Amino acid sequence: MSDRTATLHLADPDRTCAFAQALAPRLDPGDTVLLSGQIGAGKSHFARCLILASLDTPEDVPSPTYTLVQSYPGRRGEIWHSDLYRLGDISEIEELGLIDAFSDAICLVEWPDRLGDAAPPSALRIRLEAPSRDHTRLMHLDWSAPRWDEKLKGLLDDRP
Ligand SMILES: Nc1ncnc2c1ncn2[C@@H]1O[C@H](COP(=O)(O)OP(=O)(O)OP(=O)(O)O)[C@@H](O)[C@H]1O
Ligand SMILES: [Mg+2]
Repeated sequence: MSDRTATLHLADPDRTCAFAQALAPRLDPGDTVLLSGQIGAGKSHFARCLILASLDTPEDVPSPTYTLVQSYPGRRGEIWHSDLYRLGDISEIEELGLIDAFSDAICLVEWPDRLGDAAPPSALRIRLEAPSRDHTRLMHLDWSAPRWDEKLKGLLDDRP
């Protein structure tokens, strides 16, 4: 499998949200999106927009900073939102149920470096970068699983 990459310029939080909302209806159980980037880069903002776009009934989408995982009844299947920043030990990943969720649910994972070898190779990797102190973000995407070619079709036009 060869790696594919794309970069989008996101001028403000609404742009980031619009991309997340567009991706939401294309995700199926078994799809994982790994969200990396510095503190405050916008990972939770992206995840919140994606989850809210997938719910029939709106509900609070708090950052799972302390619970580590939070699940939601998405229209296309259960959505797991996970923030592994405070993960103590790699063995907790299994205890949290994340390994099973990678095959059974739609998973959004912040701080995916904590997963080590447990990161699904078929995941879509998104890295958010804040190059300056304003609201601009660069979104770097990469994937090797062919399914993302179809799922990302039309979403990668980079208009600022
Ligand atoms: N273009 C942008 N895209 C996303 N968020 C942006 C953008 N510009 C500004 N922001 C702001 O940056 C902040 C990002 O906070 P968020 O909690 O999403 O970060 P995070 O990457 O999840 O951090 P953490 O590592 O602490 O979980 C929000 O207040 C959001 O409004
Ligand atoms: Mg966060």
